Amino acid sequence: MSIDNTKKILVTGAAGQIGIELTAALREKYGTESVMAIDIRETEAAKSGPFKICNILDLNKYKKIVNDNNIGTVYHLAAILSATGEKNPKLCFDVNMNGLQNVLEVAREYNQRIFCPSSIAVFGPDVPKENTPQNVALNPTTVYGLTKVAGELLCDYYVNKYNVDIRGIRYPGLISWKNKPSGGTTDYAVEIYFGAAQNEKYQCFVNEETRLPMMYMPDAIRGTLELMDAPLKSLKYHSNYNLSGMSFSAGELAESIQKVIPNFECTFKPDSRQEIADSWPVTIDDGAAKKDWGWKPKFDIKTMTKDMLKNLRN
Ligand SMILES: NC(=O)c1ccc[n+]([C@@H]2O[C@H](COP(=O)([O-])OP(=O)(O)OC[C@H]3O[C@@H](n4cnc5c(N)ncnc54)[C@H](O)[C@@H]3O)[C@@H](O)[C@H]2O)c1
Repeated sequence: MSIDNTKKILVTGAAGQIGIELTAALREKYGTESVMAIDIRETEAAKSGPFKICNILDLNKYKKIVNDNNIGTVYHLAAILSATGEKNPKLCFDVNMNGLQNVLEVAREYNQRIFCPSSIAVFGPDVPKENTPQNVALNPTTVYGLTKVAGELLCDYYVNKYNVDIRGIRYPGLISWKNKPSGGTTDYAVEIYFGAAQNEKYQCFVNEETRLPMMYMPDAIRGTLELMDAPLKSLKYHSNYNLSGMSFSAGELAESIQKVIPNFECTFKPDSRQEIADSWPVTIDDGAAKKDWGWKPKFDIKTMTKDMLKNLRN
């Protein structure tokens, strides 16, 4: 499919943890007026350019925004995440499945390119925990995970059946300072920095040994833009690239913060999110992303901690 550069970009879920930063990066790259942001709630960052309130389940309103704004590429981030999904499975299924289908149907009609993220939540407890392969049986145990598996398959269906150019990454837990996330299982890895910067303590909701794949947001945003810039013919996969940044335990994360803030105190009191964390991989094999579009992470735990605390203390 050829790319029409006169067309604009739309970001759904633009007020979320990734949306705020991806919208800003896209506006920096393509110009503020070229990037329309939508969400069901307003935030200052999402309003720093064209913005509209739109529920992704409202197909008519979504289609009108696409039509009125000459949208050629959609970054579809509107979703319900893992921990919220377990509390409200129906909402998770509605937004993640029916919302995605609305986006894909409009993409087919308007010949759009789509970025649709997946997640390490597609993996269930039966996969190899270390170096989890790109191609492995996907048997997640959360409703969020199953919507992500079905979402990957639905995207592949639209690629194969309708020739829609759809790309996506199985993001690991993303760590950022511009927005405090809520509703995800890896939120502790962000909250811990806010706790450390604000009052030098934090109570972590997973145990000290919990080790999960993570990535610093600047790497995730760069990876997203690089995947969207890659020539289609070089991509062996579509909506489901494994992507690796770093892996560390909650205890190691606390220690990395203590190296910068020696008085920082972290206690561990696991809640229901421990079970979700225990069902996910420890490290991810991202050989396909490296080979097909040259993926390479820049941040490790040390450089991320330094950057996070510098920004939060400012
Ligand atoms: N943040 C992570 O660590 C992470 C990891 C893996 C995958 N992902 C995926 O990345 C995408 C974005 O995640 P995020 O972390 O920014 O999530 P988030 O919860 O911070 O943001 C999601 C946004 O979607 C909006 N939204 C919810 N329901 C909506 C609806 N019906 N219509 C329109 N907007 C709606 C919310 O208001 C919110 O601003 C999701 O697909 C998520 O599954 C995120």
